[in-house]
Amino acid sequence: MPSHTILLAGANRGLGLGLAREYLGRGWQVVATARDPDKAKALHELRSAHQGALAVERLDVADPESGAALAGRLDGRTLDVLFVVAGVSGYKDVPIHEVPPEGVAREFVVNASGPVTLAETMQPLLAPNAPVVFMTSVLGSIAGNTTGGWELYRASKAALNMFASSYALRHRERPVIVMHPGWVRTDMGGPNAPVSVEQSARGMAEVIEARTTPGIAYLDYQGATLPW
Ligand SMILES: NC(=O)c1ccc[n+]([C@@H]2O[C@H](COP(=O)([O-])OP(=O)(O)OC[C@H]3O[C@@H](n4cnc5c(N)ncnc54)[C@H](OP(=O)(O)O)[C@@H]3O)[C@@H](O)[C@H]2O)c1
Repeated sequence: MPSHTILLAGANRGLGLGLAREYLGRGWQVVATARDPDKAKALHELRSAHQGALAVERLDVADPESGAALAGRLDGRTLDVLFVVAGVSGYKDVPIHEVPPEGVAREFVVNASGPVTLAETMQPLLAPNAPVVFMTSVLGSIAGNTTGGWELYRASKAALNMFASSYALRHRERPVIVMHPGWVRTDMGGPNAPVSVEQSARGMAEVIEARTTPGIAYLDYQGATLPW
């Protein structure tokens, strides 16, 4: 049986790297991207351990030309899942009125518009009912904001949720997931997070596999529906 292919956009470290391991373990072909593939040591080690199953590609989600170049290099392949994992969390302890405008713009492009722009660019490569998954956060829930903090990050993920919902309306045949991975021990999540990368990656892969209904869902790594 031919194996399936997933494109993991932003897999140099953290959750993207964990998802690469998880899908390779499931026997999938994995295309994993890094901003600088020459320095993607962990991905190259993984590629050596899984001969032929992992391709490492260059991508900056903030740069539409980088996305178009990647689509060109992947021409002829079919993607069974697209998962845009990349994200940044700057200015966590700073209220929005103290963030410089260029900082706001950068975080919105990387976290919100860039992922959806990439999904549109990859559209010709996607299998007809391939799920598209955007890594959001529970912090992107407006209803769930009871504590404040992380103002720019929260707003950029709420914007991602909204862009993803418009994307889902343009592609009504497709399951679209905005995924909260849990609070996970990565560079971003920090050492005190309760969930391991392995636990989160396994859970997310199961949630994606189970989600075959077209339309958008805001889910966490255990399959729970989150409030918008
Ligand atoms: N960890 C958590 O608890 C948690 C909770 C909720 C949501 N999330 C979300 O999960 C995703 C992954 O987070 P993480 O915890 O794995 O964080 P991480 O360890 O900081 O990794 C972030 C990843 O995003 C990539 N990236 C950043 N900017 C990029 C760009 N412009 N183009 C392409 N790739 C870019 C990084 O690549 P480089 O290595 O090149 O910098 C890295 O691979 C993010 O979207 C984050 O917001 C995480």
